[in-house]
Amino acid sequence: MCGIVGYVGARNATPIIYEGLKTLEYRGYDSAGLAVIQDGQIEIRRDVGKLSRLRTLLDKDPVEGTIGIGHTRWATHGPPSERNAHPHMGASGEVVLVHNGIVENFLELRDELASEGIAFQSDTDTEVIVHLVDRYLAMGHDLPEAARKAMVHLQGAHAIVLMALKEPDKIVAARIGNAGGVVIGVGEGEMFVASDIPAILDHTRRMAFLESRQVAVIDHQGFSVSTLEGNPLEIEVQTIQWDAVSAQKGEYKHFMLKEIFEQVRSTTDTIRDRVDFEGGHILLPELGIDAKQAKRIEKIVITACGTAAHAGMVGKVLIERLARIPVEVDIASEFRYRDPIVNENTVVLAISQSGETADTLAAMELARQRGAILWSNVNAVGSQAMRIADGTITMQVGPEIGVASTKAFTAPLVDMYMLAVYLGELRGELDEKIRRRLVHDLRLIPDLVGQCLDRAPDVEKVAWALKDMDHCLYLGRGINMPIAYEGALKLKEISYIHAEAYPAGEMKHGPIALIDEDMPVIAIVPRDPWYEKMLSQIEQTKARGGVVVAVATDGDELLPPISDHMIWVPETPWLLNPAITIIPLQLLAYQIAVIRGCDVDQPRNLAKSVTVE
Ligand code: AGP
Repeated sequence: MCGIVGYVGARNATPIIYEGLKTLEYRGYDSAGLAVIQDGQIEIRRDVGKLSRLRTLLDKDPVEGTIGIGHTRWATHGPPSERNAHPHMGASGEVVLVHNGIVENFLELRDELASEGIAFQSDTDTEVIVHLVDRYLAMGHDLPEAARKAMVHLQGAHAIVLMALKEPDKIVAARIGNAGGVVIGVGEGEMFVASDIPAILDHTRRMAFLESRQVAVIDHQGFSVSTLEGNPLEIEVQTIQWDAVSAQKGEYKHFMLKEIFEQVRSTTDTIRDRVDFEGGHILLPELGIDAKQAKRIEKIVITACGTAAHAGMVGKVLIERLARIPVEVDIASEFRYRDPIVNENTVVLAISQSGETADTLAAMELARQRGAILWSNVNAVGSQAMRIADGTITMQVGPEIGVASTKAFTAPLVDMYMLAVYLGELRGELDEKIRRRLVHDLRLIPDLVGQCLDRAPDVEKVAWALKDMDHCLYLGRGINMPIAYEGALKLKEISYIHAEAYPAGEMKHGPIALIDEDMPVIAIVPRDPWYEKMLSQIEQTKARGGVVVAVATDGDELLPPISDHMIWVPETPWLLNPAITIIPLQLLAYQIAVIRGCDVDQPRNLAKSVTVE
């Protein structure tokens, strides 16, 4: 939820931290701050509002030093304000800290510390941590030990980064549970720490990832890691392949627009190295299963949140159809509290762009405890969902910065298709001819996506027609029912219009009462096995004076006479058409939001990675 950046080395920490925070602003942004050790003192600069306010503060009252930590905040406890912005300082003035997560027992800790005479300077839960560290420093412990001892008191998931005057050459970072990542960047004579890769990618590609209950001590020469109990351990330093440019907007007005238009490349990248077009095979060795093990799978539970869950809903149709395995899709925040029925013959597949979503990770932990086979489909290399899974299909689409997920939705759609074919072949469910055609069809996707993107100006005309609506309904059936949900979510989260999605067949069971000229219906009606059923739904809608926007396959002649607006998509094999029908709906949501003057990349109340419950 929040962004964290730290630096220790020979250069001035301030600009490095500030620029790093800018790349993370999408993760949480209602206040920001940094602390630097300058002339033997801890100097803090922080303010409410966007990062630009911190920039103004730094220009007016500069601070310089070779070690520092910074933070962008998405408020959980305590309203957005200067006093609640991080970093927070201990009462001694000797230690300063930034934090990601929620101290679930912060009230009792606050009372305990207040009874020891601590006067709190903020309304945040975070402040109890820095006072606990202060307490242990005063008892003579060194900074790493003081951090370890403080962390033991905390309930909930946390990532903390701190420094102290007592040891002015080191930064300590610690992680409990899944409150966002802690990434250590290895430079030449300088070191970095951040909550996410893009913040330090300009400076180094060599990164290590802290796991839960691990503490790192970082100075300008390197780092060491121990468990929360103080036992030393080694963690691997990986080389990140992402290029720094892909984490920037370039010539696009918003990250979301850039990422929508990246989908020709991203749907190509997610397929790369996974298809033997000559032999007609899908290659997913990273799952580590053979035919015998594949045949033993009795059920797949796909668990995820938000957009990722919608991809899972498409995955259900694909895997049941091609691999003949029963699939349940379970929202992670429900799965984790349902006492689910899973065992060693169940695959639990978590889909997560960030790989750090708290609910999804908790669902994975529960699945592991129940003995399930644990797979994940993630974009963020090195993320928790990747590390705890038995096998991972990486999305391979590069950093997705826009809060509204786009390329990290079409990638899992393609990944689910490949998984379905892969499992279908392993289980002997697909004859050679069908399998070869299914594999061949994959090569059509990037070009079909490109054709949809070329039609952005046509979609914009519809956006202008719909821009003032307050409500709308998205309808779909079968493999495109999840696309109705995803299209509605896109519109909701960036334009703030109330958009509801429904399985089209359900309309007659109540929702059709909503239909009138003030409730436009966006119907996804491509050529697929549900086409005729959708047609009758639209006729029913029109008969009640509804406004219909039809997403239809090129050349359709039945829909124009009964629709108010047409959005055309190219003919696509129906098992793959969700990756196509969603493109104009992403564009429609984006264009309406821009017309309405919304903050597309940083929608109100949202953050890119929901690392708290
Ligand atoms: C999608 O546009 C939203 N930003 C949100 O629903 C997101 O998909 C959800 O929070 C899951 O995130 P994840 O894929 O990183 O787990």
